[in-house]
Amino acid sequence: MLSFILLALLSSHLHRATAVTIDMEGLPDTGLDTSSWTAGVLPPLEDIWDLNDMQIAAKNVLSGKFYASYRTGALNEFTYQANLGIYSKVKINGFGFRDVSNLRTSTTILGHNLSWPFFIAPAAEAGHANESAEASLASAAGNAGILYVPSISSTLSIEEIAKAGVKGQVMFHQEYIWANTSRVIDELDRIKASGYKAIFLTVDNTGITGIRTRSLRFTVGSEPGHAANFDLKSLAAFRNLTTLPIVPKGIKTWQDALECLHLGFPAVYISNHGGRVLDGVPTAVEILMDIRKHAPEVFAGMEVYADGGVRRGTDALILLALGARAVGLGRSPMFANIWGEAGVSRMIDLFSQEMKTSMQLMGVSDVRQLNTSYVNTNGIVV
Ligand SMILES: Cc1cc2nc3c(=O)[nH]c(=O)nc-3n(C[C@H](O)[C@H](O)[C@H](O)COP(=O)(O)O)c2cc1C
Repeated sequence: MLSFILLALLSSHLHRATAVTIDMEGLPDTGLDTSSWTAGVLPPLEDIWDLNDMQIAAKNVLSGKFYASYRTGALNEFTYQANLGIYSKVKINGFGFRDVSNLRTSTTILGHNLSWPFFIAPAAEAGHANESAEASLASAAGNAGILYVPSISSTLSIEEIAKAGVKGQVMFHQEYIWANTSRVIDELDRIKASGYKAIFLTVDNTGITGIRTRSLRFTVGSEPGHAANFDLKSLAAFRNLTTLPIVPKGIKTWQDALECLHLGFPAVYISNHGGRVLDGVPTAVEILMDIRKHAPEVFAGMEVYADGGVRRGTDALILLALGARAVGLGRSPMFANIWGEAGVSRMIDLFSQEMKTSMQLMGVSDVRQLNTSYVNTNGIVV
């Protein structure tokens, strides 16, 4: 009897010692209750109702070092925060009196048929969240019919990720402007041979990367090995290195978008790298508005993709209404991957549901019909 009481006391003490209080980082309060969670233990997926919940769950499970490596922005994180906050400044116009009994969410990206106009953006080192690493991102994307674009700094190799995909799956691959040209050529060849259909060429780490303080507390920063002399001529010449279509990623000004149009690129990818590179730059919403103001021909002449702070279906719909053809998710799939493929699939389901519901409530039956009439950006000055 005495040992039973002691055991009960001990277990209640242990429970108190491990029950978690998590700093929610100012994310929207949707009533997530973490009181039954144990620090360092994967919470049940049933507790998760949106992408913000997934971030908090990842914060509960991952080591401080790995959580910081995914979560961190650069310097003051002004851009990281602005990415999250900008969507609240855009008002969505919800029209009545429209037939929304049949919703079409599929689209094409560079001519490839995909179920949704959102995709899993390149993000390094998925293995920090789960041992399946990028394999679960590939299979979850493949099963949902959405695009996945693995990072060149992935945990798994180019070939391993390609093999993890489902039959007939369309994947693109990200590449960096490495200073070492033979490395670039070798990787581009392997990407093509593995069946990837296009390259997202990240051009915003110009020989150096952002100062990410949260992460630096755990890991000493290292030189990324990117070319610092990569100019417009280099960008134009890069296309001679592969027959795959190239999409410059990390375009942050309307001027650069226009240069890419003039050079004849099939698409550009508007991104501030999730606020991880140059702090203080505008959000995708502002950059898209700037392009519309100064160089609207960009939207007519090429496909435009965009990302940054997209956590809700409504965020994606705003970017689509402002001219993006497809929208990337960076951190959220990485956080969702703490449960492996099941987590990433749930993330895709929750996000799709938000998009579908909001489309119907906005009175838009086809994602390809979204245009600026669906948003009011009067609260944002560019
Ligand atoms: C942990 C992490 C690693 C990333 N690694 C890469 C990368 O290797 N290449 C790249 O082009 N972008 C990389 N990005 C940027 C993403 O592709 C994307 O632009 C950004 O995360 C979008 O913002 P979001 O995280 O708010 O969705 C990374 C982002 C994160 C969070």
